[in-house]
Amino acid sequence: MNYEEMVKKAVALQEGYPIEITNCRIKLDANESPFQPSESFRDKVAEIARGLSLNRYPEPGSPGLKRRFARYLGVPENMVLTGNGSDELIQVLASALEIVPERGVMVPVPTFAIYGIVCRNNGHRVTEIPLDEGFNLDREAMLEALSRNRPQVVFMASPNNPTGNRFDPTVIEDMLRAMAGEGIVVVDEAYVDYADSSFLPRIGEFENLVILRTLSKIGMAGLRTGVLVGQPSLIRQLRKVCLPYNINLFSQEVASYFLENEQREIIGRAERIKRERRRLTEEMAALEGIEPFPSEANFVLFRCIREKNNIYNYFLEKGILIKNFTSPGPLSDCMRVTVGTEEENSAFIDALKEAVLRQGA
Ligand SMILES: Cc1ncc(COP(=O)(O)O)c(C=O)c1O
Repeated sequence: MNYEEMVKKAVALQEGYPIEITNCRIKLDANESPFQPSESFRDKVAEIARGLSLNRYPEPGSPGLKRRFARYLGVPENMVLTGNGSDELIQVLASALEIVPERGVMVPVPTFAIYGIVCRNNGHRVTEIPLDEGFNLDREAMLEALSRNRPQVVFMASPNNPTGNRFDPTVIEDMLRAMAGEGIVVVDEAYVDYADSSFLPRIGEFENLVILRTLSKIGMAGLRTGVLVGQPSLIRQLRKVCLPYNINLFSQEVASYFLENEQREIIGRAERIKRERRRLTEEMAALEGIEPFPSEANFVLFRCIREKNNIYNYFLEKGILIKNFTSPGPLSDCMRVTVGTEEENSAFIDALKEAVLRQGA
């Protein structure tokens, strides 16, 4: 059997999402939160786990979790769809929407790889529009491409992964207006807890705006819970594409408890990460040949003027894993470090200083 010929051409032609599995002492490669939940939270999780009816299916559509998310985000319940991580919700959008080949979807790049992978797997043409030199949306290029291609969906992350910056809301507004009545703008706010502002309060203003959020970046990546906010008429259609029990019982219950009880902790930990992000950025900027980019996320992208791979390998020798971008393009001399605990960040900075010194020697 030639399975390469049996799968869709679009699937055979791509590599899939690259996930690095490298043993390390300090893991700063995947934009996770470095903080384990408190002892009392974990006790509560154990209590929740003991009380679950594991012989039963969870409630379809996760009504309890949906209610909690709606309250947490300050939106009506009928505008909320919960998913097995926001990854699943990207997949749901790509599989539910009727996307004609001439129009396809559009993605400003560089960005989170899943948009392109999932859309291509679903047979959609993906047009990539480069961000400008400061990694901002290029207003003219985006609007020109919108009128030329008339894409049916634009996926963007703001703050963007891996560049860390939040996009100018006036450009997003222009795009929403340019696509009104004929296309959706998906603003993925996975990193919003580390940002200065959100586009969510604008949800009532634009019929074609969809917002994605996740618990993955604020300490609950293992639960796999994300949420999509959009017009009730869109949610009604997307629900038909979601598998009935997409979020398991344990995740539904623990995520609900988290949303209801941990708001203060979420904010406090985000403040700690933002303080550390500032420190990391300043310390990196002081090193010769290292150029960090401003970030509103829980990671910092930085450019290495020389010998990037030697620096990366030095980190590996020290047991520190960060993200190295190896493809040609605007990130070919860049790496991305997730903001960790104070100790982890100090270990990263020490190793970076040593690596830079070794280069100078
Ligand atoms: C922009 C962006 N969106 C979504 C995700 C995935 O989120 P989830 O864990 O909810 O699937 C990531 C993960 O890195 C991301 O960077």
